[in-house]
Amino acid sequence: MSYKGREIVKLNREKLLEHLNKAYADEWLAYYQYWLGSKIVEGPMRGAVAMELAEHAKEELEHAEKLLERILQLGGKPILSPEEWYKASSCGYEVPSDPSVERLLEQNIKGEQCAIEVYNKALEFTKDGDPVTWRLIADILEDEIEHEFELQSMLEDLKKMKK
Ligand SMILES: [Fe+2]
Ligand SMILES: [Fe+2]
Repeated sequence: MSYKGREIVKLNREKLLEHLNKAYADEWLAYYQYWLGSKIVEGPMRGAVAMELAEHAKEELEHAEKLLERILQLGGKPILSPEEWYKASSCGYEVPSDPSVERLLEQNIKGEQCAIEVYNKALEFTKDGDPVTWRLIADILEDEIEHEFELQSMLEDLKKMKK
């Protein structure tokens, strides 16, 4: 069977699927990092920070889902085992061994900044050959920029409280 939706993609298929699968792994790791952080966070403003982290976790999982849908549409094979997440990931996983509000915010800001760079590169890669993936990535990038901004704002407030 031929899929018109696949035929119109004018990009190196392997590379495109690699981008998508790597991002998929990143999103799962980001999801777990946020989700766990929202449960173990300690210190000032913990309620507000926990809510924000939980909200981000939910959105990272939605990103993973959208990426998976696109991988399947393109006829690709998604990563099947969590073991592979670490290997495929570009941004890795920051172990939240210090559950203080400040440290968790810093770790997650680092993750968002990495995600912003990675998605920005993926936008560049897809811009001339696959408008559907391009738009999906632009939407995700918009969320990551919002995430970074929200975490930075909280960290700034926290630092003001300490003065
Ligand atoms: Fe994400
Ligand atoms: Fe994010």
